[in-house]
Amino acid sequence: MSILETKDVTKRFGGLTAVDSVDFSVNEGELRALIGPNGAGKTTFLAMLSGRLKPTEGEIFFRGEDITNQPPYVISQKGIATTFQITNIFQGLTVYENIWVAANSRKKKLNPFVHFSRLKDVAERTEEILELVRIKDKANEIAANLSHGDQRLLEIAIALATDPQLLLLDEPVAGLSPKETGEMSKVIKDLSKEHTIILVEHDMDVVMNLAETITVFDSGKVIAEGTPKEISEHKEVIRAYLGER
Ligand SMILES: Nc1ncnc2c1ncn2[C@@H]1O[C@H](COP(=O)(O)OP(=O)(O)O)[C@@H](O)[C@H]1O
Ligand SMILES: [Mg+2]
Repeated sequence: MSILETKDVTKRFGGLTAVDSVDFSVNEGELRALIGPNGAGKTTFLAMLSGRLKPTEGEIFFRGEDITNQPPYVISQKGIATTFQITNIFQGLTVYENIWVAANSRKKKLNPFVHFSRLKDVAERTEEILELVRIKDKANEIAANLSHGDQRLLEIAIALATDPQLLLLDEPVAGLSPKETGEMSKVIKDLSKEHTIILVEHDMDVVMNLAETITVFDSGKVIAEGTPKEISEHKEVIRAYLGER
Protein backbone atom coordinates (compact mmCIF):
# COMPACT_ATOMS: atom_id res chain seq x y z
CA MET A 1 0.00 0.00 0.00
CA SER A 2 1.33 3.44 -0.88
CA ILE A 3 1.90 5.79 2.05
CA LEU A 4 2.89 8.77 -0.08
CA GLU A 5 1.96 9.65 -3.61
CA THR A 6 2.54 12.68 -5.82
CA LYS A 7 0.62 13.47 -8.99
CA ASP A 8 2.16 15.78 -11.59
CA VAL A 9 4.03 17.73 -8.93
CA THR A 10 5.80 20.74 -10.41
CA LYS A 11 7.80 23.56 -8.81
CA ARG A 12 8.85 26.62 -10.77
CA PHE A 13 11.15 29.34 -9.51
CA GLY A 14 10.48 32.14 -11.98
CA GLY A 15 11.48 30.72 -15.36
CA LEU A 16 13.24 27.68 -13.88
CA THR A 17 11.32 24.42 -13.53
CA ALA A 18 13.09 22.76 -10.59
CA VAL A 19 10.63 19.83 -10.33
CA ASP A 20 8.75 18.90 -13.47
CA SER A 21 5.48 16.88 -13.39
CA VAL A 22 6.67 14.20 -11.00
CA ASP A 23 4.45 11.17 -10.37
CA PHE A 24 5.96 9.35 -7.44
CA SER A 25 4.79 6.71 -5.02
CA VAL A 26 6.35 5.07 -1.97
CA ASN A 27 4.98 2.01 -0.24
CA GLU A 28 4.64 1.68 3.51
CA GLY A 29 7.83 0.24 5.02
CA GLU A 30 10.00 1.00 2.02
CA LEU A 31 13.45 2.57 2.07
CA ARG A 32 13.50 4.59 -1.14
CA ALA A 33 16.57 6.44 -2.38
CA LEU A 34 16.41 9.54 -4.57
CA ILE A 35 19.54 10.21 -6.58
CA GLY A 36 20.55 12.56 -9.36
CA PRO A 37 23.03 15.29 -10.27
CA ASN A 38 23.30 18.55 -8.32
CA GLY A 39 20.40 20.81 -9.18
CA ALA A 40 18.18 17.89 -10.27
CA GLY A 41 15.40 19.03 -7.91
CA LYS A 42 15.72 16.46 -5.11
CA THR A 43 15.81 18.92 -2.21
CA THR A 44 13.00 20.98 -3.75
CA PHE A 45 10.93 17.81 -4.06
CA LEU A 46 11.47 16.90 -0.38
CA ALA A 47 10.64 20.49 0.63
CA MET A 48 7.25 20.11 -1.07
CA LEU A 49 6.60 16.79 0.69
CA SER A 50 7.26 18.45 4.07
CA GLY A 51 5.18 21.54 3.25
CA ARG A 52 8.09 23.98 3.28
CA LEU A 53 7.49 24.76 -0.39
CA LYS A 54 4.15 24.77 -2.16
CA PRO A 55 3.98 23.03 -5.52
CA THR A 56 3.24 25.32 -8.47
CA GLU A 57 1.10 22.50 -9.82
CA GLY A 58 0.12 18.99 -8.85
CA GLU A 59 -0.98 17.15 -5.73
CA ILE A 60 0.57 15.31 -2.81
CA PHE A 61 -1.26 12.56 -0.92
CA PHE A 62 -0.25 11.07 2.43
CA ARG A 63 -2.19 7.90 3.26
CA GLY A 64 -4.66 8.91 0.59
CA GLU A 65 -5.28 12.37 2.08
CA ASP A 66 -4.52 15.46 0.01
CA ILE A 67 -1.84 17.41 1.93
CA THR A 68 -0.76 19.64 -0.97
CA ASN A 69 -1.47 22.98 0.64
CA GLN A 70 -0.95 22.10 4.29
CA PRO A 71 1.62 24.07 6.30
CA PRO A 72 4.73 22.26 7.63
CA TYR A 73 3.46 21.92 11.21
CA VAL A 74 0.27 20.18 10.07
CA ILE A 75 2.24 17.81 7.84
CA SER A 76 4.58 17.09 10.74
CA GLN A 77 1.60 16.29 13.00
CA LYS A 78 0.25 13.94 10.36
CA GLY A 79 3.49 11.95 10.56
CA ILE A 80 6.03 13.21 8.04
CA ALA A 81 9.34 14.21 9.63
CA THR A 82 12.32 15.83 8.04
CA THR A 83 15.84 16.60 9.16
CA PHE A 84 17.00 19.39 6.94
CA GLN A 85 16.63 22.04 9.56
CA ILE A 86 19.68 21.93 11.78
CA THR A 87 17.99 24.85 13.53
CA ASN A 88 15.86 22.24 15.31
CA ILE A 89 18.81 21.61 17.60
CA PHE A 90 19.07 23.72 20.76
CA GLN A 91 22.83 24.17 20.83
CA GLY A 92 22.95 24.99 24.55
CA LEU A 93 21.05 21.89 25.66
CA THR A 94 22.38 18.38 26.03
CA VAL A 95 21.63 15.58 23.60
CA TYR A 96 19.18 14.09 26.11
CA GLU A 97 17.42 17.41 26.69
CA ASN A 98 17.08 18.08 22.96
CA ILE A 99 15.36 14.75 22.38
CA TRP A 100 13.25 15.09 25.53
CA VAL A 101 12.00 18.54 24.49
CA ALA A 102 11.03 17.25 21.03
CA ALA A 103 9.27 14.18 22.45
CA ASN A 104 7.50 16.30 25.06
CA SER A 105 6.24 18.90 22.57
CA ARG A 106 4.84 16.07 20.46
CA LYS A 107 2.96 14.72 23.47
CA LYS A 108 1.56 18.13 24.30
CA LYS A 109 0.16 18.46 20.80
CA LEU A 110 -1.57 15.11 21.13
CA ASN A 111 -2.93 15.90 24.58
CA PRO A 112 -3.18 19.51 25.72
CA PHE A 113 -3.87 18.50 29.33
CA VAL A 114 -0.70 18.01 31.28
CA HIS A 115 -0.59 14.82 33.29
CA PHE A 116 2.35 14.07 35.51
CA SER A 117 2.41 10.45 34.34
CA ARG A 118 3.13 11.41 30.76
CA LEU A 119 6.56 12.68 31.78
CA LYS A 120 7.61 9.10 32.30
CA ASP A 121 6.54 8.22 28.76
CA VAL A 122 8.64 11.04 27.41
CA ALA A 123 11.67 9.89 29.39
CA GLU A 124 11.18 6.33 28.15
CA ARG A 125 10.82 7.44 24.56
CA THR A 126 13.95 9.60 24.92
CA GLU A 127 15.93 6.58 26.16
CA GLU A 128 14.65 4.44 23.29
CA ILE A 129 15.68 7.01 20.73
CA LEU A 130 19.13 7.44 22.29
CA GLU A 131 19.66 3.72 21.77
CA LEU A 132 18.12 3.54 18.33
CA VAL A 133 20.30 6.37 17.05
CA ARG A 134 23.36 5.04 18.92
CA ILE A 135 24.18 8.25 20.80
CA LYS A 136 23.41 7.10 24.30
CA ASP A 137 27.05 7.57 25.29
CA LYS A 138 26.69 11.28 24.32
CA ALA A 139 23.40 11.82 26.18
CA ASN A 140 24.87 14.38 28.58
CA GLU A 141 27.02 16.29 26.11
CA ILE A 142 26.04 19.82 25.11
CA ALA A 143 24.82 19.78 21.50
CA ALA A 144 27.18 22.58 20.46
CA ASN A 145 30.17 20.41 21.39
CA LEU A 146 29.18 17.41 19.24
CA SER A 147 31.13 16.35 16.17
CA HIS A 148 29.46 16.97 12.82
CA GLY A 149 28.50 13.29 12.60
CA ASP A 150 26.88 13.30 16.03
CA GLN A 151 24.98 16.52 15.20
CA ARG A 152 23.50 14.73 12.17
CA LEU A 153 22.52 11.81 14.40
CA LEU A 154 20.92 14.22 16.87
CA GLU A 155 18.90 15.82 14.06
CA ILE A 156 17.55 12.39 13.21
CA ALA A 157 16.86 11.67 16.89
CA ILE A 158 14.84 14.90 17.16
CA ALA A 159 12.87 13.99 14.04
CA LEU A 160 12.15 10.55 15.53
CA ALA A 161 10.87 12.10 18.73
CA THR A 162 7.80 13.26 16.80
CA ASP A 163 6.91 9.60 16.11
CA PRO A 164 6.91 9.95 12.33
CA GLN A 165 5.55 7.37 9.92
CA LEU A 166 7.57 8.77 7.05
CA LEU A 167 11.10 10.10 7.46
CA LEU A 168 12.70 12.37 4.85
CA LEU A 169 16.51 12.42 4.95
CA ASP A 170 18.42 14.86 2.74
CA GLU A 171 22.04 13.75 2.31
CA PRO A 172 22.56 12.49 5.87
CA VAL A 173 26.17 11.43 5.24
CA ALA A 174 27.29 14.63 3.48
CA GLY A 175 30.51 15.84 5.09
CA LEU A 176 30.88 12.78 7.33
CA SER A 177 34.08 10.76 7.68
CA PRO A 178 34.13 7.16 6.38
CA LYS A 179 33.71 5.92 9.97
CA GLU A 180 30.78 8.27 10.66
CA THR A 181 29.25 7.30 7.30
CA GLY A 182 29.34 3.65 8.34
CA GLU A 183 27.68 4.47 11.67
CA MET A 184 24.99 6.60 10.00
CA SER A 185 24.28 3.80 7.49
CA LYS A 186 23.71 1.35 10.33
CA VAL A 187 21.33 3.76 12.06
CA ILE A 188 19.36 4.32 8.84
CA LYS A 189 19.17 0.58 8.27
CA ASP A 190 17.80 0.08 11.82
CA LEU A 191 15.29 2.92 11.41
CA SER A 192 14.05 1.42 8.16
CA LYS A 193 12.75 -1.58 10.08
CA GLU A 194 10.08 0.61 11.67
CA HIS A 195 9.74 3.61 9.38
CA THR A 196 9.19 4.38 5.75
CA ILE A 197 12.19 6.41 4.61
CA ILE A 198 12.92 8.60 1.62
CA LEU A 199 16.66 9.09 1.42
CA VAL A 200 18.29 11.66 -0.86
CA GLU A 201 21.93 10.66 -1.09
CA HIS A 202 25.01 11.23 -3.23
CA ASP A 203 27.11 8.48 -1.68
CA MET A 204 26.43 5.59 -4.06
CA ASP A 205 27.87 2.98 -1.70
CA VAL A 206 25.34 4.04 0.93
CA VAL A 207 22.50 4.09 -1.60
CA MET A 208 23.33 0.73 -3.16
CA ASN A 209 23.72 -0.83 0.27
CA LEU A 210 20.49 0.53 1.83
CA ALA A 211 17.85 1.16 -0.82
CA GLU A 212 15.35 -1.37 -2.10
CA THR A 213 14.25 0.93 -4.88
CA ILE A 214 16.02 3.94 -6.38
CA THR A 215 14.34 6.85 -8.15
CA VAL A 216 16.59 8.94 -10.38
CA PHE A 217 15.97 12.65 -10.92
CA ASP A 218 17.52 14.69 -13.71
CA SER A 219 16.57 18.29 -14.53
CA GLY A 220 13.47 18.03 -12.35
CA LYS A 221 12.17 14.87 -14.00
CA VAL A 222 12.17 11.25 -12.92
CA ILE A 223 14.27 9.50 -15.57
CA ALA A 224 14.44 6.03 -14.03
CA GLU A 225 13.25 3.88 -11.17
CA GLY A 226 14.33 0.38 -10.21
CA THR A 227 16.40 -1.88 -8.00
CA PRO A 228 20.02 -0.91 -7.26
CA LYS A 229 21.13 -3.43 -9.89
CA GLU A 230 18.73 -2.11 -12.54
CA ILE A 231 19.77 1.48 -11.87
CA SER A 232 23.50 0.73 -11.96
CA GLU A 233 23.03 -0.75 -15.45
CA HIS A 234 20.58 1.87 -16.75
CA LYS A 235 22.06 3.63 -19.82
CA GLU A 236 20.44 7.03 -19.34
CA VAL A 237 21.32 7.05 -15.63
CA ILE A 238 24.94 6.24 -16.37
CA ARG A 239 25.01 9.05 -18.92
CA ALA A 240 23.21 11.62 -16.73
CA TYR A 241 24.69 10.78 -13.39
CA LEU A 242 26.75 7.70 -12.63
CA GLY A 243 29.11 8.29 -15.55
CA GLU A 244 30.17 11.69 -14.27
CA ARG A 245 31.23 10.38 -10.89
N1 LIG B 1 14.51 28.93 -3.47
C1 LIG B 1 14.96 28.82 -4.73
N2 LIG B 1 14.86 29.84 -5.60
C2 LIG B 1 15.30 29.74 -6.87
N3 LIG B 1 15.83 28.61 -7.39
C3 LIG B 1 15.97 27.55 -6.57
C4 LIG B 1 15.54 27.60 -5.21
N4 LIG B 1 15.78 26.39 -4.63
C5 LIG B 1 16.34 25.63 -5.60
N5 LIG B 1 16.46 26.32 -6.76
C6 LIG B 1 16.97 25.80 -8.03
O1 LIG B 1 16.20 24.65 -8.35
C7 LIG B 1 17.01 23.65 -8.92
C8 LIG B 1 16.91 22.39 -8.11
O2 LIG B 1 17.60 22.59 -6.88
P1 LIG B 1 17.62 21.48 -5.72
O3 LIG B 1 16.25 21.03 -5.47
O4 LIG B 1 18.38 22.07 -4.59
O5 LIG B 1 18.46 20.31 -6.41
P2 LIG B 1 19.23 19.06 -5.75
O6 LIG B 1 18.80 18.95 -4.33
O7 LIG B 1 18.84 17.89 -6.60
O8 LIG B 1 20.68 19.37 -5.89
C9 LIG B 1 18.42 24.23 -9.00
O9 LIG B 1 18.61 24.78 -10.30
C10 LIG B 1 18.40 25.31 -7.94
O10 LIG B 1 19.32 26.31 -8.25
MG1 LIG C 1 19.89 18.90 -2.58
